Amino acid sequence: MAQCVSPEAEGPVVELGPGTGPVTQALLARGLAPERLVLVEYEPSFCNLLEKKFPGVRVVRGDAYRLRDTLANALDRPAAAVVSSLPLLTKHESARLSLLRQAFDLMSSEGRFIQFTYGVKSPIPAHLSTSLRFETQSLAPIWLNLPPARIFVYCRSGRHCEAERRPDMLAKLLKKSRRFGNEIRDELEEARARFSTPDAPRPVSVKSRRF
Ligand SMILES: C[S@@+](CC[C@H](N)C(=O)[O-])C[C@H]1O[C@@H](n2cnc3c(N)ncnc32)[C@H](O)[C@@H]1O
Repeated sequence: MAQCVSPEAEGPVVELGPGTGPVTQALLARGLAPERLVLVEYEPSFCNLLEKKFPGVRVVRGDAYRLRDTLANALDRPAAAVVSSLPLLTKHESARLSLLRQAFDLMSSEGRFIQFTYGVKSPIPAHLSTSLRFETQSLAPIWLNLPPARIFVYCRSGRHCEAERRPDMLAKLLKKSRRFGNEIRDELEEARARFSTPDAPRPVSVKSRRF
């Protein structure tokens, strides 16, 4: 989720449902200054913990689904992104849409709403809305999360929704295994060249296809 936030984008970054702060930690590790982070958490004990754990970060105790009221006077300029771990699927679709609308109202026109979910489909399907026009980017599943999770990025229609994120784990594994395969093939070729006489027939059992 943190990789979907560009540290260069101007303005505060709002986190919804930070809990004990794993996403907050990742946002800070990404290079966001603590003063840029505004956390909205409902549970008072989590708010106390977050304040102790992350000096300089602003913690607002309140209801994220009433974002406009909860953050009234908390932001002095448009936010760059809203990052949410709220369990959206427990809410009615109209509440999810209202949350996205309120988040867009708080952000600059380039702002992104980044949502974590265990669902396979977007928790805020575009067909729900007639008045709010937005685009959705679905990122590859995070298989290492149990259960596997997904991240959806929402932005206003016509804006650049493409989010930066490391390549999917499976794609990484595939890339590594191809490199490994190519190395073995190179070594085989070298061994062949060293041990065979110029006119010896090439063994046919070893494929020399490179990927
Ligand atoms: C699934 S936990 C995620 C916690 C943390 N971000 C993580 O990844 O481990 C959801 C968090 O959202 C908070 N939350 C739920 N409903 C909320 C609401 N309406 N307003 C603010 N926070 C809420 C919960 O208290 C909880 O900390």
